[in-house]
Amino acid sequence: MAGTVIIGAQWGDEGKAKIIDILSQEADVVVRSQGGNNAGHTVVVKDDVFKFHLVPSGILYPGKECIVGNGVVIDPKGILEEIDMLNSRGINTDSLRISQRAHLVMPYHKVLDGIKEEYRGKSDIGTTKKGIGPCYMDKAERSGIRMIDLFYEDLFKEKVRENVKIKNRIISKVYESDKIVDAEEIIEEYLAYGERLKQYITDTTVLVYDAIKANKNVVFEGAQGTLLDLDLGTYPYVTSSHPVTGGVCIGSGIGPTAITDCIGVMKGYVTRVGKGPFPTELDDEIGEQIRNVGHEFGTTTGRPRRTGWFDAVIGKFAVRTSSLTAIALNKIDVLANLDEIKICVAYKKDGEIVKEFPASLDELALCEPVYESMEGWGDIDHIRSYEELPQTAKNYIKRIEELCEAKVTMIGVGPNRDQNIYR
Ligand code: GDP
Ligand code: IMO
Ligand code: MG
Repeated sequence: MAGTVIIGAQWGDEGKAKIIDILSQEADVVVRSQGGNNAGHTVVVKDDVFKFHLVPSGILYPGKECIVGNGVVIDPKGILEEIDMLNSRGINTDSLRISQRAHLVMPYHKVLDGIKEEYRGKSDIGTTKKGIGPCYMDKAERSGIRMIDLFYEDLFKEKVRENVKIKNRIISKVYESDKIVDAEEIIEEYLAYGERLKQYITDTTVLVYDAIKANKNVVFEGAQGTLLDLDLGTYPYVTSSHPVTGGVCIGSGIGPTAITDCIGVMKGYVTRVGKGPFPTELDDEIGEQIRNVGHEFGTTTGRPRRTGWFDAVIGKFAVRTSSLTAIALNKIDVLANLDEIKICVAYKKDGEIVKEFPASLDELALCEPVYESMEGWGDIDHIRSYEELPQTAKNYIKRIEELCEAKVTMIGVGPNRDQNIYR
């Protein structure tokens, strides 16, 4: 039996989908357990580029069961558009399964996400405005609407009307906005989505359990990243779910003993999209070069990603908080042709060395990165074996392993499915 978790070990967009795609070749089941269509997961197959938001990327392999678990928040319009897009490109989605327990992102969640961000003004979070935060708020507040509700029409109508009444008061009276929504329109629209989605909806916890019991290979597809975790990330500049290993258990309805491996995906540098602290951020030509060479623009929103040097304080934090058994280090090809590459080995605050990622953002703001300088390398995107890598790149990987306290078992040297080195 193998239950392999793949999570983001930085601020998201680490190239998780590429690793998941590679591991999905040997998988029977691929499961998403948290987040929603705030995620943007890119898989490159030769000249074809696929961008996934809700559908597990394992769908590219015929016959793999692809599960959207109970911890995911689903915009039905979004997932249907994705299904249509995949079908129009010849990808069969019959093996998709969606949890009955997953919460629905409703139109008022998207409105509230947008106006709350506007209201915050300069102190906005920089969300994707997909309604993720407000949807998880309703879930925690126990007024959310779930997939299963779409099939109990009277109850569904009641829930929508009740929610709309309150949300419209918040929209118009608290935020003084005219973006109120219409309950009857939502009911009609969503019941139609329900009809189309019906064939996919089931108790996915049973499917995951049965797969594990039958010794099948199950890959858990993480979304977002460790430092965007609601509990462990740079709160409040986080998402509203749990992208760490722990989130996989609740979000797919399994216990921890079903997990055999936890792979943390890191980039050979760090990026962040949206607001919030970023100790190793590069606000200079090198940062610009990394952004351009690495095509660091958001998959979901198109926003330019902020870029910076590899931060081993973060790397070690991710290893610790997700019990990572291995690191997949992506995009080291992007660092090619730089004379000097820096690694942040610790922070310095008031003359003292800080080795653990601080909980307080005020404290983090006072932390200066302590860098070690490493020698760069030339183009490596054609290399397919570890032995062939330049010694300087090997040194870089070795130093990351030492600092993060986990082995690098996969190395990404390009966006394509085959641009990967195994160790
Ligand atoms: P995810 O959200 O973690 O799945 O990552 P995204 O898809 O949002 O962003 C990662 C980007 O980097 C995508 O455009 C990938 O095609 C690309 N990518 C992944 N691995 C590599 C790599 O090793 N080298 C390069 N150059 N690009 C990569
Ligand atoms: P993948 O799965 C990078 C960021 C947003 C914002 C914060 C909160 O592609 O790695 P939200 O809309 O979730 O309430 O926004 O989280 N964010 C991501 N950043 N990759 C992602 O997903 C992200 N999903 C959310 O930019 O800063
Ligand atoms: Mg992404």
